[in-house]
Amino acid sequence: MTSVALTIDRIRTGRAAGTTCTPELAREPWDAVLGYGPGASMGDVLPTGSPRQGGLPEQYRQASTDELHDRIRAAKATLGDRVVVLGHFYQRDEVVQHADFVGDSFQLANAAQTVPDAEAIVFCGVHFMAETADILAKPGQQVILPNLAAGCSMADMADLDSVEQCWAELEELYGTEPDADGRVPVIPVTYMNSSAALKGFCGEHGGIVCTSSNAETVLEWAFERGQRVLFFPDQHLGRNTAKRMGVPTSRMPMWNPRKPLGGNDVDALLDARVLLWHGFCSVHKRFSVGQIEQARAEHPGVRVIVHPECPEAVVDAADEAGSTDHIRKAVAAATEPTTFAIGTEINMVNRLAAEFPQHTIFCLDPVICPCSTMYRIHPGYLAWVLEALARGETLNRITVADDVAANARVALERMLAAKPRG
Ligand code: 13P
Ligand code: SF4
Repeated sequence: MTSVALTIDRIRTGRAAGTTCTPELAREPWDAVLGYGPGASMGDVLPTGSPRQGGLPEQYRQASTDELHDRIRAAKATLGDRVVVLGHFYQRDEVVQHADFVGDSFQLANAAQTVPDAEAIVFCGVHFMAETADILAKPGQQVILPNLAAGCSMADMADLDSVEQCWAELEELYGTEPDADGRVPVIPVTYMNSSAALKGFCGEHGGIVCTSSNAETVLEWAFERGQRVLFFPDQHLGRNTAKRMGVPTSRMPMWNPRKPLGGNDVDALLDARVLLWHGFCSVHKRFSVGQIEQARAEHPGVRVIVHPECPEAVVDAADEAGSTDHIRKAVAAATEPTTFAIGTEINMVNRLAAEFPQHTIFCLDPVICPCSTMYRIHPGYLAWVLEALARGETLNRITVADDVAANARVALERMLAAKPRG
């Protein structure tokens, strides 16, 4: 049993109450829950109209973990090359063990575009990743998200209407004419963690998508073409990346979509280099400078690595920051036994600890609090969609409308060309 599963099991049996962010984690993801469900995003506001997941048949809810694993393996064997299962690093081990490819969001987007001619891609990740896979997959390939309620609260913090409203206000302020160097007033950059509609918006307006692994390459691309960048939805990735590139934080005003001019005065907007949307990740918001200080006090020589979705002060206090793949590579590259304190999702940290026993690896946040929505992909749902596929039935297909997909593909192909550094 994995350490997350073990802790959940302890809550169930009443042996560890209070050691997680919520005892609700002891419930299975198909039990009725409000909002995003238990985990780090449980306090976030779920927009009305978000995808919901219908009931999971009783046989999958009642099956033991061993039975589900057997059924998943059997369905995959029946399907053979007709299916490819992709898994994000944040997925629970019980799901990751069935993935044909595991990676960060950049690698998974790339994998979706380059998988061989499988009929279906089963995406064990969250909704925006499955939408991206559908946009990049070959014509006729079906993309399946095992639990439709696996969204992302950060992605939900920017919607097309609010971004279009912001864009109209910016056009009024900056105009639309390029400067003497041919740079347009604003380039829109959306983080991968956003809806297909926002990726389409970027494609349509000369913009681009980024992930946490290539954000710096993408911002360079944008600054070559624009005087400033509108970056959404994650303020932290935008701020941390631009700051590393030398942009002063005083030239990065925040855009609050609920206020006129985003809550800024005209002078601040005229001086801006990066306009940061008012979004954040509730998993990475949990990490603090205090936790880093505590790790340093308790483990002299500890190497602190955090994800750039963490707040600026946390990134500044850490030894380094990088995408999930960066974190993985940094651990794998350490030749001497090292103590690592890691600021990212608990499933990935625990898997690194198991995979690299020569190192001491722990999560900066001592409380078990998984990403609420990644956690919703349970082996029960995976078995359900794979068995259906094996008998010729497609469940939970994710499709992006052709007109949106065409523009989004432009922005995504720009992203795939902007390779992550080292
Ligand atoms: P990466 O895998 O790109 O580092 O992103 C992390 C994340 O939050 C995905 O939702
Ligand atoms: Fe969204 Fe954060 Fe979960 Fe990633 S870790 S899917 S950004 S809530």
